[in-house]
Amino acid sequence: MMPCPESGYRYKEVKPGVLRCLDLDEEAPLPAELKVGKNHIANSKRKPSMNVPLLDLKAQYKTIKSEVEAAIAEVLESQHFILGPKVEQCEKAVAAYSSCSHAVGVSSGSDALLACLMAEDIGEGDEVITTPYTFFATAGAIARLGATPVFVDIDPVTYNIDPAQIAAKVTSKTRALMPVHLYGQMADMDPIMQIADQHKLVVIEDAAQAIGAEYKGRRAGSIGTYGCFSFFPSKNLGCAGDGGMIVTNDAARAEKVRIIRNHGSNPKYYHKLVGGNFRLDAIQAAIVTVKLQYLDGWTAGRQCNAKKYDQLFAQAGISAVLPFVLTTRHIFNQYVIRLSQRDALRAHLKKAGIETKIYYPVPLHLQECFDYLGNKAGAFPQSERAAEETIALPVFPELTERQIADVVHCIREFTTGTSGSGAAVRAERI
Ligand SMILES: Cc1ncc(COP(=O)(O)O)c(C=O)c1O
Repeated sequence: MMPCPESGYRYKEVKPGVLRCLDLDEEAPLPAELKVGKNHIANSKRKPSMNVPLLDLKAQYKTIKSEVEAAIAEVLESQHFILGPKVEQCEKAVAAYSSCSHAVGVSSGSDALLACLMAEDIGEGDEVITTPYTFFATAGAIARLGATPVFVDIDPVTYNIDPAQIAAKVTSKTRALMPVHLYGQMADMDPIMQIADQHKLVVIEDAAQAIGAEYKGRRAGSIGTYGCFSFFPSKNLGCAGDGGMIVTNDAARAEKVRIIRNHGSNPKYYHKLVGGNFRLDAIQAAIVTVKLQYLDGWTAGRQCNAKKYDQLFAQAGISAVLPFVLTTRHIFNQYVIRLSQRDALRAHLKKAGIETKIYYPVPLHLQECFDYLGNKAGAFPQSERAAEETIALPVFPELTERQIADVVHCIREFTTGTSGSGAAVRAERI
């Protein structure tokens, strides 16, 4: 078996003069230079298929269309659109899937975070510790309540909050820790929970990208005081619009967020507290319940694609830092690599029809709306570096081996023409 140094594809001579590409499942004639004895397999004439989207939700929908349509039709027939049996069924299913005793369906992942903070009466004068390398909603929820987001830099290997730097940021005003399980891998929860216990802090897991992820065999959302999920369509378990869920093992807290999501009323028109309209729609709940049955299969597809990338990158000798799997179950909501000249690579891939995304180009401490916090450039160097060097590649479950090979081929093409070849390396702790 011979790997092609250009494409990284593995070839095997199956009969005299004919090569089979094991990665593409295709046969090609043995190139002339190989016949004359050079230890080199010229790339086959085949042009890569290209047009690789970052996510192909239509492909997924095709496989579940009839079930989803039937579930929506059922809600339409019932005309029960707000909360009710479909939402309760979805809550039970997500609670069980996340090893939690309670789940409360809410209008989005953002509102899940907000409702948890409200349930803890967090507001002006309070501080919440989180990461600056996340989607805006994490810190946005804290700031909306008048509390102060206090940032802690990330571990450059996992891109998650660095627990070793948290203790130094705890003050008498700290009320909660909000770790984010970025890209589908859980943050290092043991030391985080230790600090929380020591200082009596609430832990709100932002598990928007990580439903079903595990840390030492424990599911995302089940370790902290609360776990917050997003059903935004691009998440591994996405609905047909906005939706989210809060999970917890604390019955009293579950009850409080349940009241908060419905304007603080219980019973109806009797308001114990000021909440909001954070309800999950019955139609979205019905869709999520259908899709949850397929989630493990889709996750396996993502994990398999990630492994394939790892192998092909290693074979092609591409100098990029590959994802580091530190936990027991990474669900690969994103497969993110890092390398210098990221933006030029992205342009190169775009020209070839390969879609990528940057999660996230500007860390939160450098966002204009957080100028008032007084954090300057250089304050969180690992987050800033990650924002400059990381790129998310397509990893969705329906991605074909050929598409993966094409992505690697194109990256190889780019690195050969720029920074030169090297070895794909696993991220390592520095
Ligand atoms: C880490 C993180 N937190 C929170 C959210 C907010 O979720 P939603 O878009 O459902 O409001 C997202 C969604 O993108 C996210 O990725």
